[in-house]
Amino acid sequence: MKNEAVAADISWQVDDFIRTGPTEPAGRYLRRFWHPVYHSVDLVAGRPVPLRIMSQGFTLYRGDDSGAAFLVDERCPHRGAQLSAGWIEGDALRCFYHGWKFDSTGQCVEQPAENSAFAAKVAIRSYPVREYLGLVFAYLGEGEPPEFPLYPEFDSFDGLLEVDSYSRNCNYFQNLENALDMSHVGFVHGDNQVAFNGIGDGKGSKAVESSWGVTYSYTRPDGQQRIQQFGMPNIFYMLALPTDEDIGWQESLFWWVPIDDELHMQFSLHRVPADAQTAARISQRRQQRRGEIDLAHQDVCEQVLNGMLRLRDLDPKRIDLVRLQDDVAQIGQGRIADRKAERLGSADIGVASVRRLWRQEVSRLYQGAALRTWRRGPELVPAAWGLVGAPAREFGGVAGSEGRELATVDVRPYVEVKAQLLALHGAAARATR
Ligand code: FES
Ligand SMILES: [Fe+2]
Repeated sequence: MKNEAVAADISWQVDDFIRTGPTEPAGRYLRRFWHPVYHSVDLVAGRPVPLRIMSQGFTLYRGDDSGAAFLVDERCPHRGAQLSAGWIEGDALRCFYHGWKFDSTGQCVEQPAENSAFAAKVAIRSYPVREYLGLVFAYLGEGEPPEFPLYPEFDSFDGLLEVDSYSRNCNYFQNLENALDMSHVGFVHGDNQVAFNGIGDGKGSKAVESSWGVTYSYTRPDGQQRIQQFGMPNIFYMLALPTDEDIGWQESLFWWVPIDDELHMQFSLHRVPADAQTAARISQRRQQRRGEIDLAHQDVCEQVLNGMLRLRDLDPKRIDLVRLQDDVAQIGQGRIADRKAERLGSADIGVASVRRLWRQEVSRLYQGAALRTWRRGPELVPAAWGLVGAPAREFGGVAGSEGRELATVDVRPYVEVKAQLLALHGAAARATR
């Protein structure tokens, strides 16, 4: 009896960060924050799209009048038609079925077959949206949104801002935990051209709570450190591997955003400081690389996990290998990893620390206590092997002061864009309804 009680308690604890529907604990918690939900370049004026985030459906569109992005409910309150099938009139959205029209605040303003007094009583919900650094961010919670978090290092510097994303067929928290797991790097990515060997043992790993979340570090035997910053609830700030011969380790920001409990997006930004000439060269090579990758990592992962293909038989030119290696590791844990069966060791300190923070916050939510406000102070920056904030961490309005627009570059492989859009548009959920 006692054991059962303990087991029940554990299951509450391990589930509290997994399920993100509107009424689930993690879903309620995540909805207190702004999240990236779409790429700005994919949102074409006059073409509303269905969007699925945290097991909830929405309609996202760009108004013809203002060019601004708007996010409203998925369905029409008249008889439930999918609003993304309708059309845009100015900044308003008209339902395809019987023509009810909703302004950008969600207020119904026309019902062709009814008198207009009825329209005043009908509204859909409209959610706060903001476009920043090439991404559409949304606030899906109740009440006033929190202050919008800015990343000045990423919005004002001389160089390129790479905008990337991918979908992965597993729970978002598996990816989040993987970021705070240095010990996987030498194994999962061990055959990569950049040497990882020998990093990540339990002795050298440290996870310290910060004002933003967790500062996660690893110290090599020679004293050099790699420092990464986890930001609550689902953000990571690190120095990422060089992706081009002209680029050193680059600062990157990641967000893991659930589409549903078994599928999520990673959105990422990479800050590449460079003079105009180098930037043009890098940009050209990155565009070429988008076309060279002709295998979608999701499909290849499926074949590997089905025992039909081995990772080492793949031509690394045709695929983003790091992404695929992480796919195989994380999706291999199951669409939702069974954490009751796991055996954590000392090298899992980062995983344990982030779960602890999440549990504390979700407990507060349960108890109706005030939630902590997380803020990234200027001291919370990443470093790798002596390259503190490198390369060339010289921000301070360079791009802005020259009156030059920061160049944002879409680096998603072409072969993956469609899969990502289908995932974001809720294709999986629609197929099983
Ligand atoms: S269902 Fe939308 S107008 Fe009828
Ligand atoms: Fe990895």
